[in-house]
Amino acid sequence: MDDYKGIGGLRLADAPDPIPQPDEVILEVHYAALNPADAYLAENQYPAKPRLPHILGRDGVGKVVARGSAAADVGLGERRAILLCEAGINQPGTFAQRVAVPTQNLVEIPAGWSEPEAAGATLVYLTAYQALTMWGPLPPSAVVLVTGASGGVGVAAVQLAAAMGYKVVALSRSAEKSRRLEQLGAAATFNPEDPKWGLALKSALEPRRVDLAIDNIGGKLLPQVISTLGDLGRVSLVGRLAGPVPNFNTATLFFRRNRLGGVAANAGTNAESHVAWQEILKLLARAGVRPQVDKVFPFDQLPQAFERLAQGPMGKVLVAVKPAG
Ligand SMILES: NC(=O)c1ccc[n+]([C@@H]2O[C@H](COP(=O)([O-])OP(=O)(O)OC[C@H]3O[C@@H](n4cnc5c(N)ncnc54)[C@H](OP(=O)(O)O)[C@@H]3O)[C@@H](O)[C@H]2O)c1
Repeated sequence: MDDYKGIGGLRLADAPDPIPQPDEVILEVHYAALNPADAYLAENQYPAKPRLPHILGRDGVGKVVARGSAAADVGLGERRAILLCEAGINQPGTFAQRVAVPTQNLVEIPAGWSEPEAAGATLVYLTAYQALTMWGPLPPSAVVLVTGASGGVGVAAVQLAAAMGYKVVALSRSAEKSRRLEQLGAAATFNPEDPKWGLALKSALEPRRVDLAIDNIGGKLLPQVISTLGDLGRVSLVGRLAGPVPNFNTATLFFRRNRLGGVAANAGTNAESHVAWQEILKLLARAGVRPQVDKVFPFDQLPQAFERLAQGPMGKVLVAVKPAG
């Protein structure tokens, strides 16, 4: 990435091999996952302003091919996934054959998961987990509404909320993806482009209302989401794929004492992220579910992979990175 004009300007080029710091390993990247934040960073809409040229990509799986002097606890040749680090943000990222990662930001590939499943999982499940748990315990059999439910964070939120025993309501603009979301644990699905979706949801839930909404979309959908909340209902604000919220009326929060709160997946400590990751793995294993991969593109089709992400995937979009040489 040579400038902050967007992902349209990305180019495939040679870069110097990364050299590990004492606490780092070099991963030979096998699979790297795309996130909307990559595009935001490239468009100068993200807090990080890495030095240019920059390599995007914050998630991935690869093989350890070199180690720093203090990185002896991971063996050469072992495969690892990345758990939230500066790669792809302020440091060169995973859209490359090699990436430097601190050992504290590595996790094992969970038993029974494929490399693509593991490559795109950490960021979205940690985000979804924070969105589900940040308000403290929810009432048993709480109703959880997930917007943008077919995306990376959305699928993770649907699966985790169902695994926690909540009743999940999912929003998707696609009938086919709605069916898939029902197979993944959503009790009901609605199309947010149907002007009556909110009324249909309220009559389906009657006399209950939504206890927690996980919002990946923002824009004009957010006030509609708020109108479905019950007393003390909360909204975990994750994303804003539909942009800023127009004409927001704070009075819509007053009468049912609703609360909105921001989610920041990488805001916790490294130890907290590892604890959360272990909790996530337990929940997924107990529910017998694994990450959903939408599509794996060849590395040199990264622009097409970003197009697929922008169209609305069903799970994670990845690139398969060829080994060097
Ligand atoms: N706060 C954090 O820490 C954090 C962490 C990760 C991600 N995020 C943010 O969370 C958001 C979701 O991320 P993601 O990885 O899940 O994205 P994603 O994989 O691109 O999926 C989002 C889904 O939302 C729907 N969608 C997309 N654009 C839309 C629009 N304009 N209006 C309505 N629906 C739309 C699509 O579903 P349908 O086609 O099925 O409707 C799509 O599948 C992004 O804004 C991302 O930057 C935040």
